[in-house]
Amino acid sequence: MDIVSIGGGPAGLYFSILMKRRDPRHHIRVIERNGADDTFGWGVVFSDETLGNLAEADPETYAAIAGSFAHWDAIDINYRGRTLSSRGHGFSGLARRRLLNILQERALALGVELEFGREVADPGEFSDADLVVAADGVNSLTRQRLARHFEPELDVRPNKFIWLGTTRRFDAFTFYFKEDARGLWRVHAYRFDDTHSTFIVETTERAWRRAGLDKADEDQSLRFLQTHFSQELEGHPLLKNRSIWRSFPTVRNKRWSHGNVVLMGDAAHTAHFSVGSGTKLAMEDAIALADALHREGDVPEALAAYEAERRPQVESIQRAAQASLEWFESTERYHSRLEPIEFAASLLTRSLRITHESLRQRDPPFVERIDRWFARKAANQSGVNVPAEPLPPPMFTPFRLRNIVLENRVVVSPMCQYSAEDGLIGDWHLVHLGSRAMGGAGLVVAEMTDVSRDGRISPGCAGLYKREHAEAWARVVQFVHANSRAKIAIQLAHAGRKGSTKRLWEGMDEPLPSGNWPLISASAIPYAPGNQVPKAMDRADMDRVRDDFVRAAGLAEKAGFDMIELHFAHGYLLASFLSPLTNRREDDYGGSLENRLRFPLEVFDAVRAAWPAEKPMSVRISGTDWVPGGFDGEDAVAVARALKRHGCDIVDVSAGQTVPEQQPKYGRLFQTPFSDRIRHEARMPTMTVGNISTYADVNSILVAGRADLCVLARAHLYDPYWTRHAAQAQGYPLAWPDQYTSLSRYRPRSS
Ligand SMILES: Cc1cc2nc3c(=O)[nH]c(=O)nc-3n(C[C@H](O)[C@H](O)[C@H](O)COP(=O)(O)OP(=O)(O)OC[C@H]3O[C@@H](n4cnc5c(N)ncnc54)[C@H](O)[C@@H]3O)c2cc1C
Ligand SMILES: Cc1cc2nc3c(=O)[nH]c(=O)nc-3n(C[C@H](O)[C@H](O)[C@H](O)COP(=O)(O)O)c2cc1C
Repeated sequence: MDIVSIGGGPAGLYFSILMKRRDPRHHIRVIERNGADDTFGWGVVFSDETLGNLAEADPETYAAIAGSFAHWDAIDINYRGRTLSSRGHGFSGLARRRLLNILQERALALGVELEFGREVADPGEFSDADLVVAADGVNSLTRQRLARHFEPELDVRPNKFIWLGTTRRFDAFTFYFKEDARGLWRVHAYRFDDTHSTFIVETTERAWRRAGLDKADEDQSLRFLQTHFSQELEGHPLLKNRSIWRSFPTVRNKRWSHGNVVLMGDAAHTAHFSVGSGTKLAMEDAIALADALHREGDVPEALAAYEAERRPQVESIQRAAQASLEWFESTERYHSRLEPIEFAASLLTRSLRITHESLRQRDPPFVERIDRWFARKAANQSGVNVPAEPLPPPMFTPFRLRNIVLENRVVVSPMCQYSAEDGLIGDWHLVHLGSRAMGGAGLVVAEMTDVSRDGRISPGCAGLYKREHAEAWARVVQFVHANSRAKIAIQLAHAGRKGSTKRLWEGMDEPLPSGNWPLISASAIPYAPGNQVPKAMDRADMDRVRDDFVRAAGLAEKAGFDMIELHFAHGYLLASFLSPLTNRREDDYGGSLENRLRFPLEVFDAVRAAWPAEKPMSVRISGTDWVPGGFDGEDAVAVARALKRHGCDIVDVSAGQTVPEQQPKYGRLFQTPFSDRIRHEARMPTMTVGNISTYADVNSILVAGRADLCVLARAHLYDPYWTRHAAQAQGYPLAWPDQYTSLSRYRPRSS
């Protein structure tokens, strides 16, 4: 094959090596605009996991790289005058220049043609080649020229960063957080050879401007940072190498190839430097592309196979990188507010790649310290003694809400069962909720229960608008109280414009074929084109709905519930007031957020006044509509603040389902960032929900302060005994009901 690589960075060089290794007959040219020794930046870092892939792909290159490594296993976090050190992480670093020299030598030895000092102005000049590899980095000219085909998306992030070197040897991967009048400065520093370290400084654009760095040249920036970090540098100089302040661009492309041109490395995708994966991704791309070319019959098939293999892996790292960069963009949220150990836990688990469990395997004493701190905090908050031995995992610590104390931090999420008749629940609900309570969760939230007949989503929805309803619910509550240690809450709601539809399994959000009832909402906008147009509520409707909520609260008290959760999310009636997408009113209940919040708050106040003062209330709110111009992050913080002022004890942070055209970004713990933000900015307790499924995730969320309680829905449908199984897996002695004591000697087997 005749192959041209535009760009002689890690991607282009490594790919040419792997291709030549497989078949020396390939004619490969690498065209690089810079000189051989002329490169930007300082060190690059690899995790131990990456190295296995490289060792397999080309042992010779791997041996040369490994021979140049500086190793370390600790992460040092310098925060508010203290250094917290976590061990067992396994990183290796080397100079970018050294890496490139190794790759250049190996490529030359294998017969690759390297052309330095030639800038490719038009990728079209290689149209005769069998394959053109666009390995021309983050600002790829090839990508720009063929933008119509690749459809690139550049997300330029707000923070400013500069990549510097220093002669100070850092023995650990070191973070500094340093605050001054201009703002908060973050440093990511690590050693890459015996005498040098990388020193990346990152800060907000505001702090950067305030320090005058927007007008500073390279030398002025260096002098400023040298003075600013003199203590951290311990007298060592900072070193520059075309060190300019930049904003990190996350690069994504809809397609990675066009004809015989293929994108690789940073040209195809970037991942924020705080997850240290850019070089790894570039080199793994090279491995996958070389494999595909030798496996598949022709070039187009190989390029398609390469993209199919790499895209999910790259997107997974990009999701982790996104979570990580967002953490560094919002560090002000945590800095000075979190205690050092909590700050460290938050930093270490920021990208979800490291969990409480993986941290425990890497550094048991560090996690023991975290868990002791967490248990002490839980004991203070709940007023309940937490034993020092056995030290409970964070999820098994108590949490107080007014007069009730939850035994642990696991919550069964409200889940409609569509199995009631005119609002009346039956045996299904008793067994469904009873078994989840027996399953060990600290709190069970009964499904969305409607405050009026016309407030139901479907004919099968549960209600609390008649005396018989309260009696049926009382049977469930009594069972839970008599046979488990769980507390039980009820979620009260009105479906609004999403009402009068079929049961979930008959067609979600689809109108009934017959027997529809009239709908009301904030504005007369149907949920979807085929749905009924709701009436825009007038004041009389508001009074009636408010009173329905109050009546339901009275019935909930009669039934013996421990807590009420009001539903302000998922596009139902009260949510329809909050979102600007569904509230187009021009009166006092529309327009500003303050106005849109008026009626939902009125309902909250009325229920709060009717509900016993010693019992807590929660509100399920939305973190975002997942639609530009919709209800979003800041609105959610403002709503939480208002609810807190009005006596709400905790918010249950969900998202979406306001409008059908939403564009949610699903993934593990995908809604937890909203809870994290609200918890720190509104300074109120939160529950988080959404794709939480492992005890490692629950413990990580709790110790990092991202929520106070973790709410699991589908995981509990799948396994009503989820909490018991999590206890068993962690060796925590959660007592079984008397009837099941024989299980204390039972060892489960799965195969
Ligand atoms: C501050 C910072 C810190 C980082 N830290 C790490 C880290 O610790 N670990 C890690 O793995 N990654 C790190 N990275 C990312 C890493 O540098 C890149 O992901 C990696 O270099 C990508 O390799 P590449 O070959 O795709 O692109 P590059 O390394 O950018 O190589 C592209 C090459 O193409 C050349 N080129 C561009 N246009 C042309 C043209 N028209 N004609 C000829 N030649 C051209 C360029 O000169 C360059 O040599 C960091 C990045 C930054 C910005
Ligand atoms: C069958 C089912 C019914 C649900 N019913 C409700 C409900 O009544 N009230 C509510 O607020 N959310 C409801 N949800 C949403 C869940 O409470 C939860 O927010 C969502 O499933 C995400 O959590 P998960 O990833 O743990 O499943 C329901 C979800 C499912 C799967």
